[in-house]
Amino acid sequence: MQEVMAKATQSKARRPKVVLTRRWPQAVEAKLAERYDLVINTSDIPFDVAAMRSALQQADAVCPTVTDFIPADLFDEDLTCRLLANFGVGYNHIPVKAAQQRGLVVTNTPDVLTDCTADLTLMLLLMVARRAGEGERELRAGHWSGWRPTHLMGTQVSGKTLGIVGMGRIGQAVARRAALGFGMKIRYHNRQPLDVSSLEQMTRQGAQIQYFAQLDEMLPGCDFLSLHCPATPETQHLMNAARLALLPPQAYLVNTARGDVVDDAALIAALEAKALRGAGLDVYQGEPKVDARLHGRNDVVLLPHLGSATIETRTAMGMRVAANLEAFFSGLEPPDLLLGG
Ligand code: DGY
Repeated sequence: MQEVMAKATQSKARRPKVVLTRRWPQAVEAKLAERYDLVINTSDIPFDVAAMRSALQQADAVCPTVTDFIPADLFDEDLTCRLLANFGVGYNHIPVKAAQQRGLVVTNTPDVLTDCTADLTLMLLLMVARRAGEGERELRAGHWSGWRPTHLMGTQVSGKTLGIVGMGRIGQAVARRAALGFGMKIRYHNRQPLDVSSLEQMTRQGAQIQYFAQLDEMLPGCDFLSLHCPATPETQHLMNAARLALLPPQAYLVNTARGDVVDDAALIAALEAKALRGAGLDVYQGEPKVDARLHGRNDVVLLPHLGSATIETRTAMGMRVAANLEAFFSGLEPPDLLLGG
């Protein structure tokens, strides 16, 4: 009996073991270390399957990122882990259903990266349309011979039509910036049209916003297309050769969502055929590998998945994970609980 009591007291006093699969902003690591038995992957190299298995079999909570691929069959083994607290809003790298079926709780970090990702989307859109990457490379290489009327003429952004695929938080934040900052006309495709009230603030300020139930009907009228839908089996290669062909040849594609939403081979073929004017990409199929054919192209701007990469946002994402851990280990429902995967 004494032994049982001792064990109970020990487990009450025991600090939950939490594994971070990558380095996180210092302020968040410090905060988590105060409360948990914190194990940090200080190598900052993505876990392989063996390391992930070992984390799931030793920790109370594992905090993965987009760079962690967790095979569903790991959940068939004996696990100590009860919570997967993802550092990020997108969770297509986690087999959520398999985890939930084994009784694990899964959380993510919505809201806190909306503005940051929307800012970067506009940056990519402007960069590709105004040939900013190309110009910077030219200048740095010492090849700029001076101003001339026909030098690096890009495409005007203000007043053009922007198509948005996925009108969630980030899609709406992009629409707001584009419509109110650049006078762009917005078309969007979403599973459902948004409530009039969600768009009222924008429309009251003069934004023109049109819903398309059919993506294929929206594409021919877009000067720019920006992707903001999650990666799911339904959106895998949503922008395939046939859909890319529906965009006008002067259109630009911007992807800050997930690489899987675009068929990269079809995109490259469309650019090569001049059936598309350019692309601004932050995410890639199979990243960090990027199709080598993109490297040499001047009609693309290529960023290394920087959508949420500001110190403010990455810290806020970490703090949001901390809030999910705190609620979970206090026996409460985490604020960002993912339901039925
Ligand atoms: C997100 O939160 O989904 C970002 O793309 C990083 O994973």
